[in-house]
Amino acid sequence: MKLGVNLDHIATIREARGGKEPDPIYAAVLAELGGCHGITVHLREDRRHIKDRDVKLLKQVIKTKLNLEMAATEEMMNIALSIKPEQVTLVPEKREELTTEGGLDIVENFEHIYKVVSTLQGKKITVILFIDPEKEQIKSAEKTGAVGIEIHTGCYSNVYREEELERELQRIEEAVQEANKLNLKINAGHGLNYQNVKSIVQIPFIRELNIGHSIVSRASLLGMTQAVSEMVQLIRRRI
Ligand code: PXP
Repeated sequence: MKLGVNLDHIATIREARGGKEPDPIYAAVLAELGGCHGITVHLREDRRHIKDRDVKLLKQVIKTKLNLEMAATEEMMNIALSIKPEQVTLVPEKREELTTEGGLDIVENFEHIYKVVSTLQGKKITVILFIDPEKEQIKSAEKTGAVGIEIHTGCYSNVYREEELERELQRIEEAVQEANKLNLKINAGHGLNYQNVKSIVQIPFIRELNIGHSIVSRASLLGMTQAVSEMVQLIRRRI
């Protein structure tokens, strides 16, 4: 199973001050040194974290693969066609949401998604459709011609009671079986962390996980001791 590291929240910290740091490009290089297999960023319509400049530079700098999450709009399509990330993951997008709140409704928006998939894949960009673990969505996803799907693990990640966890896990397992029968590439992501990922990695046929918030959160704490001690050293020397 491969790991794509989502760096949106490195950009969120940068945007809290509107300056230059922390730079998602630096973070991407460090994530690659840590052994990840890809870098994922979501260029949102409102540019609340990742900016166009980040996507352009990531494509030039990283040595793994760039997975661009984006809404299926004309603006985003033009950006993808000009930057040419190795992979685009199409996601639904609402301005007011804190993060992506559910999968695409491919059944409802089939014609439009079909066209976007054809255009991007016609230019050799792999397209993945982010969907809830539902049979009808998987069947429609296959009909669009997209290479694969990313199963939305948000519901699984939001439950804690044993029986709810079992139920959500089962939904994901059934979705994986269905998608595998249709020869779709299967990715998964959203809300995965250092605890709940353990059951997901047991599921066969999932090829790639995209994980962001929990990795960025952990990195900020693991780096705290060193960051503080460097500042203490500087202050002690009265530089
Ligand atoms: N996959 C998709 C399609 C997403 O939209 C996101 C959030 O940007 C992720 C994975 C990563 O989610 P998290 O930050 O909760 O790990």
